[in-house]
Amino acid sequence: MKKVVIVTGSPRANGNTNAMAAKFAEVAKAAGAEVTRFDACALKFDGCHACGMCYKTRHACAVVPEYDAVIEAILAADTVVFAIPLYWFTIPSQLKSVIDHFYAAMRGGTSMKGKRCIVLGTMGQPVATGLYAGVTTAMKGACGYLGWTYEELVYGGMNIPGAIKETDAFAKIEVIVK
Ligand SMILES: Cc1cc2nc3c(=O)[nH]c(=O)nc-3n(C[C@H](O)[C@H](O)[C@H](O)COP(=O)(O)O)c2cc1C
Repeated sequence: MKKVVIVTGSPRANGNTNAMAAKFAEVAKAAGAEVTRFDACALKFDGCHACGMCYKTRHACAVVPEYDAVIEAILAADTVVFAIPLYWFTIPSQLKSVIDHFYAAMRGGTSMKGKRCIVLGTMGQPVATGLYAGVTTAMKGACGYLGWTYEELVYGGMNIPGAIKETDAFAKIEVIVK
């Protein structure tokens, strides 16, 4: 991986999902990759209006210009990492809105094909419940549609910030980056 974009979806700055994202950035940078990170919860937030104005103005998105930088960075990247806590069996709305805006690139006639997608996931319930399937199905489907490969690393029992440090997540991230 040479150019990595990380998009996080947890509002808890000190939470477990952000800890995984930070570790990924650290390891990827140490391996020589250029890493750009966006925190969906820190961006202005508005879902896609399906107005069809993508790239007809000087922005990818006519409603939220902040999404321009995210889409442009992803277009230039070879690896896209999503850090996704499970919210109500699926993707938190702020991050889902960022993904909805990939529509802009397609409307703009730009192919997003050929990227490696890695999901770093957390949830409150144990992983064995299988409840992360809502995210997996959505993200795998999106990746198939976009022509991206898909990998995920998911940890349960993550309600308490810091819990991720008691797992093998950081060691597994080292392996994924190599
Ligand atoms: C609004 C909301 C909805 C949640 N929904 C679920 C859920 O459906 N299943 C689950 O196992 N955990 C659920 N959780 C717990 C989070 O997935 C869990 O605390 C996660 O590890 C938090 O990541 P963080 O430490 O990065 O904030 C929910 C938490 C919130 C705030």
